[in-house]
Amino acid sequence: MSPFRLSRTLPGDAMEAALRADVLEGLTGTPKTLPPKWFYDARGSELFERITELPEYYPTRAEREILADRAGEIAAAAGARTLVELGSGSSEKTRYLLDALTGLRAYVPVDVSESALTLAGRALAAERPELRVHALIADFTAGLTLPDTPGPRLLVFLGGTIGNLLPAERAAFLSSVRALLSPGDALLLGTDLVKDEEVLVRAYDDAAGVTAAFNKNVLTVINRELGADFDPAAFDHVALWDARREWIEMRLRSRTAQTVKVPALGLAVDFAAGEELRTEVSAKFREAGVRGELSAAGLEPARWWTDGAGRFALSLSVAR
Ligand code: SAH
Ligand code: TRP
Repeated sequence: MSPFRLSRTLPGDAMEAALRADVLEGLTGTPKTLPPKWFYDARGSELFERITELPEYYPTRAEREILADRAGEIAAAAGARTLVELGSGSSEKTRYLLDALTGLRAYVPVDVSESALTLAGRALAAERPELRVHALIADFTAGLTLPDTPGPRLLVFLGGTIGNLLPAERAAFLSSVRALLSPGDALLLGTDLVKDEEVLVRAYDDAAGVTAAFNKNVLTVINRELGADFDPAAFDHVALWDARREWIEMRLRSRTAQTVKVPALGLAVDFAAGEELRTEVSAKFREAGVRGELSAAGLEPARWWTDGAGRFALSLSVAR
């Protein structure tokens, strides 16, 4: 048996308090919004895994292609003994790095989804008896403390998840990542790239409706956790490209005028017919922008790789 540890930086009631605060702020603001981390209960994580297999959702395949081609180079440059992964989900693509990092002692997957962490962490610990797997249930935007494992560290953030943060949140996040690293540690960052609008929109509005179900799942989470009475069928999934801000925006559009009750917050929320609730942005990047944001956070961008079709990029930065 190899050691598998699961710990949480946030106790369950703190998560619940954070959800209440986010929902109160988001549903009473104009326009209405909800932060994306609440998508990922067990069903949300399952639906996301189905998204990664959709023909329209290219980012997972593009990023996997880069990892398959470059894992050796990444491992040689990083020489890490600890691999930390933020928003690790299924850890599926991470296997290329786990295989290539020959001196690796510890893997620290960090995610808000307990179900995804447990599933992925247990499987990896069972397959790799020599590896210490220390899974952490935590919000990567809320001040992480990492377990004490041997350096150097390679911190990876894949899937283009950084694009789900707003620009100001991104800057704060990258600075907090820099603060977790010591000189000689590295950051591997996955960023989806600006491309044809049609390709982008289809990736977030697939023909089979899996993304629509994923988007609406956040309403089910709020119903369960806060006793709300959202009817997911009373909302339509909307994905649109904001060309100025270069991000995809996911929304839920109220089909009719309706009032939704959220008893845990003593709240009744009115929706006009056609009113939209923003649930997620997914920013798309250009090389110069990514390099600029990394440098601004005190990280030194060293390598840049894309898939053959130029859809997605991985960058490797070092901390000095
Ligand atoms: N890295 C995987 C999963 C990407 S989906 C891949 O590339 O396929 C985004 C993941 O980040 C989900 O597993 C979700 O649960 C997690 N996540 C989202 N917001 C988070 C937050 N604030 N803190 C920690 N994990 C978060
Ligand atoms: N990080 C993923 C992305 O931006 C998350 C994601 C994919 C997502 N499809 C989604 C989030 C649909 C909300 C809705 O590509």
